[in-house]
Formats: sequence, structure tokens, C-alpha cells
Amino acid sequence: MEHFDGKVAIVTGAGRGIGRSEALLLAAEGAAVVVNDLGGESTGEGADTRPAQQVADEIGDLGGRAVANYDNIATWDGGQALVAQAVETFGGLDVLINNAGILRDKMSFNMDESEWDSVINVHLKGHFVTSRFAAAYWRQCSKENGAPVEAAIVNTTSESGLYGNAGQVNYAAAKAGIASMTIVMARELERVGVRVNAIAPVARTRLTEGIAAEFMKRKEGDFDRFGPENPAAMAIWLASPLANGITGQIFKVGGGQAQLLSGWRPVTEATATDVWSLSSLTDARATLVADFDTGVPPFMPPIEN
Ligand SMILES: NC(=O)c1ccc[n+]([C@@H]2O[C@H](COP(=O)([O-])OP(=O)(O)OC[C@H]3O[C@@H](n4cnc5c(N)ncnc54)[C@H](O)[C@@H]3O)[C@@H](O)[C@H]2O)c1
Repeated sequence: MEHFDGKVAIVTGAGRGIGRSEALLLAAEGAAVVVNDLGGESTGEGADTRPAQQVADEIGDLGGRAVANYDNIATWDGGQALVAQAVETFGGLDVLINNAGILRDKMSFNMDESEWDSVINVHLKGHFVTSRFAAAYWRQCSKENGAPVEAAIVNTTSESGLYGNAGQVNYAAAKAGIASMTIVMARELERVGVRVNAIAPVARTRLTEGIAAEFMKRKEGDFDRFGPENPAAMAIWLASPLANGITGQIFKVGGGQAQLLSGWRPVTEATATDVWSLSSLTDARATLVADFDTGVPPFMPPIEN
């Protein structure tokens, strides 16, 4: 008995990289998988049916069940058609892994409109549209059965969005939005029986080969710390009943590390005795920023217990 026997899963952007590993692992664990991929360039241009088809065929050759889908998840119709295909082909939906992504890095002062729009669309809208139609499906199932479903969404955010990487204002804004959407949808779907979590992966894929190929190279005698199988395992674990009770959370995974990340929270507080003014805020400054370095924050905050 595997962990996903009889279950149906969608993985977006599953033709390559982390998504491909996620689709293969889900299938190995018994799920029927809809392998979505538009098949474009890493910058989002173009389309090609082969990446999704190859992964679906690979799963079939290994004795699993999969079907390819080539929809653009950055469109309303594409997200809707993807969810509909899972339900029509395999008779339901249990897991949605939102993973598809592109990069068009520029410093903010050099970024043009298409670089902003395309990255925001693929990541932020691409996560929302699929989730919206999956959520509507699960809500309907739960109403009809008079009981919560047992379903899961796993989103893909990034340390770039959570810590703020220079040169990626479009990507970071989208990924921070995805982190926020993860918490919102976890709250909205709790009663429906859907857990919503996110991973912040670090892995060797075509998105990182130009930036960190040397750093992510497999070291002789070591396990493959930056192989895409590592974040895939975390995503599939979060989607499985082994992670029951975990929702609205974000886990970094890569380089041999797994970390639970915690977001914005109050760290100091000053209280007003009258309407805030520049003068009273200056008086409060010592209380508000007392022990904090309030310059540009470090990219990788240390672990806090
Ligand atoms: N690789 C890393 O270290 C890393 C770090 C942080 C976050 N991520 C995130 O992980 C996810 C997977 O990235 P990857 O590194 O495996 O890259 P990848 O380029 O290998 O895979 C991404 C896949 O998404 C597909 N895709 C892009 N736009 C699409 C669209 N509109 N509709 C359907 N499919 C589309 C691409 O064709 C591609 O096959 C992305 O969301 C990325 O931002 C990766």
C-alpha cells in the first residue's frame, strides 16, 4: 500500500526540474498524475508539448498512471481546464502541487512592463487560478458529502521572496504573494478539509544552472544535496496524510537542510498616549528599534528558537 493509492494529483510545470521529480514521486506512491507543462523557455517565451508528454510517458513506462496537459496556468481558462481534466480523466482530485515558474531578473530601475507582468502572471496568478478551481471543486464535494474532503495544496515560494533578493523584484513580489496566499487559503479551506502549505526549494534545475551551477554541483562521496528530488520529497510529504495537522506553513528545503520558516510578526511595541506624531514616534524609537539593526536586513536570517 503506497501513500497515494487511489488518489489523483496535478503538478504544474512538471515537465522539468522540481515539478518532474514531484510528478514521478507521486506516481511511485500510487497517485494518478496530471503532468502539466506549457513547455516554454525559462523566461516564459514559447511553448512545447514534449516536456509534459515525456514525463507522462516516463510514468507510464514505470507502470504508473499519468496524462499530459499543456495548458498555460497563467490564464483563467488554462487553470480551469487543468482541474477539469483531472476530474474528467481520473474521476476526482486530491492533490494540487503549484510549481510552474519562470525568471526574468532585472534590477527594479531597469525592469520593463513585460518582465514585471509575465513573472507576476506565471507565479502569482498561476498559483491562484489552479487553486481557485481546485478549491471550488473540493468545496462542492464537501457540501455534497456533508463531510470535509481530505485534500492538499502545496505551493512553491522562494527564499528570494521571503528574504528579498536584489535583482528579482518581480519574482520576489510574486513569491511573497504566494506565501501570503498559502496562509489565506489555509484559513479559508480548513473547514472544507484542505491543507495548504508551501515549500521554498533550492535545487539544481535550468532556473539555477546559470546562477549557481558550481555551488550546486554534486560533490564526490556525498549524496546529491541539490538534486530536485529533495524539495520534491518535502512537497509530496506535505501533500500526504503523513503531514496531517500541518497547514498554512512554509518549509525551506535544499542543500541537505529542511527548515520551518516563520513570517512577519511583531518583535517590539510602543504604545501611544495621544495621536501619533513625529515627535512621539521619535520618543518611541528607542523602544521600537532598541536592539535591532534597522539597516537593510541580511538575506539569510539566522535560526531563532
Ligand atoms: N530551482 C531552485 O533552486 C528554486 C528556488 C526557489 C524556487 N524555485 C521554484 O520552483 C519552481 C520550479 O522551478 P524549477 O527550478 O524546477 O525550474 P524549471 O524551469 O526546471 O521548471 C519549471 C517548469 O515550469 C514550466 N512552466 C513555466 N511557465 C508555465 C506556465 N505558464 N504554464 C505551465 N507550465 C509552465 C516550464 O516549462 C518548466 O518546465 C518554480 O516555481 C521556481 O520559481 C526553484
